[in-house]
Amino acid sequence: MARDSRVLDVNSPYSYTLWCRDFADTSVVADDGGRPCGFVTGYRRPDAPDTLFIWQVAVDASHRGRGLARRMLDELAARTRGQGIRWVEATVTPDNAPSAAMFSSFARDHGCGLTRTRLFGREHLAGDHEPEVLFRIGPLPVR
Ligand SMILES: CC(C)(COP(=O)(O)OP(=O)(O)OC[C@H]1O[C@@H](n2cnc3c(N)ncnc32)[C@H](O)[C@@H]1OP(=O)(O)O)[C@@H](O)C(=O)NCCC(=O)NCCS
Repeated sequence: MARDSRVLDVNSPYSYTLWCRDFADTSVVADDGGRPCGFVTGYRRPDAPDTLFIWQVAVDASHRGRGLARRMLDELAARTRGQGIRWVEATVTPDNAPSAAMFSSFARDHGCGLTRTRLFGREHLAGDHEPEVLFRIGPLPVR
């Protein structure tokens, strides 16, 4: 799915497999009849344990536009609320309108603020990578 998205950085099979072992609590895979159709990889920031960093989100093209990405993000927010997570962060490249819309939708429906700041520029990313804008969402309501 990461490769097929043509947008996400494609990491090695080993890194995704290791992620499933070590960050399962903050990640989710959606399946449709046993076939994976979406995933979110995230981690709790070691130096900001109230913050869930969303690393990658992908939904298979045939399953887009039906709220699946939002369902996965909502599931992670609900799952980690009891662990003190109050903020969600992610980076978005300036040309990725669907990703920006997805995180804006999440912030809006959780009644949260969303700030955007430049995190990494081309100079940090070997020059051939779009800049990454940090989206910071929160505080999530305590229910
Ligand atoms: C971004 C992505 C994960 C969205 O998945 P999805 O399941 O189609 O998204 P949802 O149906 O849950 O939509 C969530 C919100 O984003 C909006 N949105 C989704 N795709 C959109 C698009 N192409 N254009 C405009 N808005 C879009 C939806 O309208 C919805 O907002 P709403 O609640 O105001 O109606 C999917 O397009 C994808 O996999 N893209 C390639 C990988 C990528 O860019 N990942 C994000 C970078 S981390």
